[in-house]
Amino acid sequence: MEHDLTRRPRRLRRDGLRNLVSETTLHASDLIAPIFVDATTDERVAIPSMPGHERVPVEEATARVEEVLSSGIETVIIFGIPASKDAEGTRAWADDGVVQRATRAITTETTATVITDVCMCEYTDHGHCGILEPDARNDGTLTVANDPTLDRLGEIAVSHADAGADMVAPSSMTDGMVGAIRDTLDGAGYASVPIMSYAAKYESSFYGPFRDAADGAPAFGDRRHYQMDPANTTEALEEVRLDVEQGADVLMIKPALPYLDIISEIDAEFSQPVAAYNVSGEYAMLQAAADRGWLDLEASAHESLLSIKRAGADLILSYFAEQLAPSLPA
Ligand code: PBG
Repeated sequence: MEHDLTRRPRRLRRDGLRNLVSETTLHASDLIAPIFVDATTDERVAIPSMPGHERVPVEEATARVEEVLSSGIETVIIFGIPASKDAEGTRAWADDGVVQRATRAITTETTATVITDVCMCEYTDHGHCGILEPDARNDGTLTVANDPTLDRLGEIAVSHADAGADMVAPSSMTDGMVGAIRDTLDGAGYASVPIMSYAAKYESSFYGPFRDAADGAPAFGDRRHYQMDPANTTEALEEVRLDVEQGADVLMIKPALPYLDIISEIDAEFSQPVAAYNVSGEYAMLQAAADRGWLDLEASAHESLLSIKRAGADLILSYFAEQLAPSLPA
């Protein structure tokens, strides 16, 4: 025989042996379930592009979280649809705002760990992730005013901490957002509330279903002037480095599946826990294919999340969390 077959990897692939040498296991405790709370409705509203998900009224937020808890998932991230929107996004930091009310109820009435998304796009009538100013070229276009937005993000984070949030997750890709939020939280007596930064958030076409769900699509233009170019890796490392310097406790990469290389590099380079957001488009793709009988939903969802973990993510935010948890180890 020409080739050496003393090493035969197939020997360990037999049933009864393959589990012993399995390198990665997905646990229910790795997963975070997104929840949509809607102040404009008094009944649950299905989200057509995200089958199995719905917007729930504030009064049902705890009931919704109890459903998630009964699946074995212990952590939720809350997104809010406010009763009204304006140019400044003022409902984002209102003490009686949708996320604040829901967080207060969930943290007092359930055992869930609550993370809140800190951003303005669901609260501004223009749908951008901050307050606007004319672009530097003065050609009539508007862009997010970076530094004035930082103060608002700090106020939003403090209002979430006041409501009992266990961790805040800024997602606006504003330069300096982690440092500004850290300072504001510390100043308000919340030095122990951690920040999970959406550190490398790409300007992705995979957010479409979420923007339907949270009613957060930009009314004009796009988010290219603040979210990252999908072509860039070095820039992701720089974004993450800046967030680490500013005090980020958990580093999130978003989306997940098309960016496994980024997850893996960030995990290798930094000691902080890495989170990955398996976004709405990643969920919708598998749902649509499964709906046509082209893919096995549970198997393809499990393989997707396992791959994200194998790439280096410690925490995974996913719309599949609740569905997969009952078949996962704790
Ligand atoms: C808010 C925010 C978005 C998502 C999470 N937080 C939307 C966006 O940036 O347009 C997307 C999540 C998903 O697609 O599942 N800035």
